[in-house]
Amino acid sequence: MVREILSVELDTQTALAALAWQVELGVDEAIEDTPLDRFAAPAPPPEAPVVSVQDAPKAVPVADAASGALAQAAGDLAGLKAAMAAFDGCALKRGARNLVFADGNPEARVMIIGEAPGRDEDRIGKPFVGRSGQLLDKMFAAIGLSRDAEVAEDAIYITNTIPWRPPENRDPSTDEVTMMRPFLMRHIELAAPQVIVVMGNSATRTVLQTTTGITRMRGNWGDLGGRPVMPMFHPAALLRDPMKKREAWADLLAIKARLGR
Ligand code: URA
Repeated sequence: MVREILSVELDTQTALAALAWQVELGVDEAIEDTPLDRFAAPAPPPEAPVVSVQDAPKAVPVADAASGALAQAAGDLAGLKAAMAAFDGCALKRGARNLVFADGNPEARVMIIGEAPGRDEDRIGKPFVGRSGQLLDKMFAAIGLSRDAEVAEDAIYITNTIPWRPPENRDPSTDEVTMMRPFLMRHIELAAPQVIVVMGNSATRTVLQTTTGITRMRGNWGDLGGRPVMPMFHPAALLRDPMKKREAWADLLAIKARLGR
C-alpha cells in the first residue's frame, strides 16, 4: 500500500507512534505514483457537516426515570461511580464480574466512549484493555494522546455506554441502553471534556440519538449540548476490516486539529 506521509512537526515519541500507526495501516512505501509539490500552499480542509441532535432522527427514548434521578444526584465522578455500583435496575449487573466505570485521566480534554465491556474488561474492571483497547491506545498515541498521561493536555479519558458486560458479548439492548444513558450523560457533564469521541454504532446512536449508521456518521462532527462529538469506527471493526483504518486516520487528524495540536 502506497501512502503519502504527512510532514508535520512532531516530537520523537509522537512521531514514532504516528509511524507505528502508519505501519498498522499497511503503509510500506512513502511515495505516490504521481509527483507531489510539497511547496504548494495546502488547500484548506473542507468544512465537515455538523450533525446536530435536533436534526438527527430520534431512535430511542432519551431517559429512564430511576437512573436519571440517581445520576443527577451524583456531585462528582466518585459519587457517580458509587451510584452506578448501587443501581440494581439493569439485569446485566447480575451476570458481570465488575462494574467497568472509566480509565485514563478524568481531566483530559478528550473523552472516548465505547460500547460495552468484553471479557477482558469485565475481568479487569477497566474499559478497552483487550485487543480493541490495544489498537485504541495505538490510534490515540499517533496523535500524541494517552490514557496514562498525567498532563491533561496529552490525556484521554475512556468509558462505555454500558458499564457491565452483556452475556456472550451480545449487543446491549435498546432497553439497557435507555436505562443506562442518564448515567453516561452525567458522566460527560462531570468530566466536562472539550471533545467527545464515540466509537462504533452503539455509542454513536446512544450519544447522538440517531438511527444513522457509523459508516455515514463517521468523520462528521456532531453536537451534544454544545460539545463537539466525533463518531469513529470502533477499533473492533478496524481489526475485522483493516481497510477502514484509512478513514480512522482521517478522523484522528480531525480530532487533533480540533484540539489545536
Ligand atoms: N469494546 C468496547 O466498546 N468497550 C470496551 O471497553 C472494550 C471493547
